[in-house]
Amino acid sequence: MSDEGIGLDDAYSVKTPEDNKRLYAKWAATYDSSFVDAKQYRYPKAISEVFDQVVNDSIHRVADIGTGTGLTGMYLSRLRPEVELDGMDISPQMLDQAKLKTRNDASPVYRKLYERDLTQEVPNENPPYEALISSGTFTHGHLGPECLRNLLPLLANNGWLVVGVNNEHFEGKNFAGELASLVEKGAITEPQILRIDVYEPGSVHYGDQARVIVTRAIN
Ligand SMILES: C[S@@+](CC[C@H](N)C(=O)[O-])C[C@H]1O[C@@H](n2cnc3c(N)ncnc32)[C@H](O)[C@@H]1O
Repeated sequence: MSDEGIGLDDAYSVKTPEDNKRLYAKWAATYDSSFVDAKQYRYPKAISEVFDQVVNDSIHRVADIGTGTGLTGMYLSRLRPEVELDGMDISPQMLDQAKLKTRNDASPVYRKLYERDLTQEVPNENPPYEALISSGTFTHGHLGPECLRNLLPLLANNGWLVVGVNNEHFEGKNFAGELASLVEKGAITEPQILRIDVYEPGSVHYGDQARVIVTRAIN
């Protein structure tokens, strides 16, 4: 596969964290141009808009889960300039791209970026975050429902989760069941599940939707 030809089929056919590292090492440099711009991918923007609508203004410390090239942070920083953002991703090459993203005032979008495998327990050297945001990372062969519990220790009590999940992945991997079990254990509040369009009208993928899990950690 040439770097220019990488696309959704490749992204959906990965199976392991190592597959993900290999795929995104190749894709990082062209992800924004050959995929985001070419396919009119609006997921990071849409998730940031949901975050802005549901999360109260007093929240300042946020982590972007599966940061990729940093588009979610970039959009969130435009809507919430006061938010301090860290990012976590398994791919150092994607994080190198995220490092280059800037806010409207030309400062870097992210305070710190961490290479983390989110299928495992996630080490955190910082005080717990007030909110986590994620787009495009809970999808086929990337992060499954069982990874939600790896994220909860990153949050302060009442910390927000605003997490996008690919629609078919949500159904096929029974995210609803995992969420119900986390509610039953007293780990999260009853979630709200929203829907967003992942691509702009005019995209070849227009019509693909994602669910957005909105809930709060009880820690
Ligand atoms: C489709 S990209 C989405 C990036 C960005 N949030 C966006 O919407 O453009 C998926 C991201 O998940 C990351 N990823 C895949 N598996 C991972 C894992 N096990 N731990 C952490 N990040 C992972 C990839 O490196 C990649 O940056």
